[in-house]
Amino acid sequence: MAAKPDFFERDVVSMRDFDRGQLELVFQQAATLERTPGRLDGALEGKLAVLLFFEPSTRTYSSFQVAAETLGLRVSGFSNPKGSSVSKGETLHDTIRMFEGYGADCFVIRHGMMGAARFAAEITDVPVINAGDGRREHPTQAMIDIYTIWKAFGKMDGLKVGIMGDLRYGRTPSSLSYGLSNYQVELCFIAPDALQIRPEVESFLNRRGVISSKETNLRSVAETLDVLYVTRIQKERIPDLTEYERVKKLYEVDLAALKDTKPSLKVLHPLPRMGELATEVDSAVFAQYFAQAAAGLPLRMALLNMILGGAE
Ligand code: NCD
Repeated sequence: MAAKPDFFERDVVSMRDFDRGQLELVFQQAATLERTPGRLDGALEGKLAVLLFFEPSTRTYSSFQVAAETLGLRVSGFSNPKGSSVSKGETLHDTIRMFEGYGADCFVIRHGMMGAARFAAEITDVPVINAGDGRREHPTQAMIDIYTIWKAFGKMDGLKVGIMGDLRYGRTPSSLSYGLSNYQVELCFIAPDALQIRPEVESFLNRRGVISSKETNLRSVAETLDVLYVTRIQKERIPDLTEYERVKKLYEVDLAALKDTKPSLKVLHPLPRMGELATEVDSAVFAQYFAQAAAGLPLRMALLNMILGGAE
C-alpha cells in the first residue's frame, strides 16, 4: 500500500481528530487485509515499534505486538512498568527520548495520566499512537468498535447506538462517541447518574449536532437499539463504588435483558468483562464482541501500515 497522505507519520491521539473519510479509509484497508490475509506480511521490515504500556493490558498490547510483528516490525518497550526503569521513577519524557535514540519508528503508549499521549506527541517527531490515556481516550479501540458495526450492518447512518456502563471513568465510551459523531447515528447513554457520560463529551456531541439522550435503565430503551455497547465499571478509577453497587443489577446484560430487543441487535464490549455481560449471551445471535476483539488485528495492522508507509 502506498503511503496515504492523510495518515503518513501522523499521531493517533484523539478520535476527535478523525473525519468520516479518514475512518473509512482505515476500514477499507482493514477489510482488504481480512479478504487477503498475508498481503502485508513483512511490509515494514526493519522498522521499530516501541510499545510503552504503563497500565495493564491484554488485547491492546498483544494485538499491537502481533500486528507489528506480522508487518515485519521489530518490537521493543514494555507491557508492565514494574519490570522497567519506570518503577525507579523514570519519566515518560525520558523513556521516549531514550527509545527515540534507539531508532523508534513509532510509539504505542498506554498511560494512566489523561493527556499522556498528547504530551508524548509533543516531545517527539516520531508518530505516537494513544493506546489509552487515563479515562480520556482510546482511539484505536473506537476504530475497532466502529469498524465492527460498519461490517455488521454494512452502513452506519440511521443506527441507534446504546452505550452502557461506566461512561464517566471509561475511555472507550468517549472515543466511541467522538468517532460516531461523524455519522448520522443516534446515541443513547445508559448509566446511573454518577457514571454518566462526561460533560466535555456531551458538549462536543451537541456542537456537532448529534442526537443523544441519557437513560438510567436499559429496559426503557432496549427495544429501540441497533447496537448495545456494554462496558465494565472502571473499579481502578472510581473513588466510591457504593452508589454503583446499589444499582448494578440494572446494568447487567443477560438473555432476559435482551428478550424484547430487535433480532438484528448487535452487542459489543471492548472487554475485559466482569459481571456486566453474562456468558450465556456468547452463543446468541446478538454477540459481536469476540468478532470485535478479532477485528483488532487487521485494523491495527492497516493503521500501522498507513502511518509507517508500507508498500502496496
Ligand atoms: C479497555 C481499556 O483499556 O480502556 N480495554 C481494551 O483496551 N479493550 C476497556 C476496559 O479496560 O474496560
